Amino acid sequence: MLVPRPDTETLVQWALEVLQTPDIPSDPQILDLGTGSGAVALALKHARPALQVSAVDFSADALAVAQANAQALKLDVQFSHGSWLGNVSDHYHAIVSNPPYIAARDPHLAALTHEPLQALASGLDGLDDIRQIISQAPAYLHPGGWLLLEHGYDQAAPVRELLQRWF
Ligand SMILES: C[S@@+](CC[C@H](N)C(=O)[O-])C[C@H]1O[C@@H](n2cnc3c(N)ncnc32)[C@H](O)[C@@H]1O
Repeated sequence: MLVPRPDTETLVQWALEVLQTPDIPSDPQILDLGTGSGAVALALKHARPALQVSAVDFSADALAVAQANAQALKLDVQFSHGSWLGNVSDHYHAIVSNPPYIAARDPHLAALTHEPLQALASGLDGLDDIRQIISQAPAYLHPGGWLLLEHGYDQAAPVRELLQRWF
């Protein structure tokens, strides 16, 4: 079970804001990486039906849930299986992601046993997946495109450093 959290609403609001900037077309292409139950992709498509929304996850089980949710909500989102941008060939005006970002030894993980560990934890410092996404994303963004990431409360400085290194 993947539980969407209120923090992730901020990611959705932020994406809707940046997609309103004048240099972005009215029917922009959006990619949700690590879509889980599809919460981010489906919220974006619902809020702005003109968006062309694609979504990727490594977990076939998660994708099945996301697809069922899209069907129930009658929202047209293209779901595909893959590891981050490994199977992606298009370019996007925005890539959004709420990836796993909890450090492997973080004691909070003990209370989150109803979710799969690979949806939450990401290496010793929690940044393994964010590192991969940041290093891969520039090649898949249109000029002026955005990469929007959710990360841990104490990860702003290292995430900023990674973004400065790759963008
Ligand atoms: C924290 S959950 C976020 C789920 C959903 N986006 C949300 O906000 O509710 C992280 C998601 O990333 C997926 N994930 C983990 N490793 C991945 C990888 N290498 N490539 C693609 N997705 C991955 C997990 O299966 C999980 O669905």
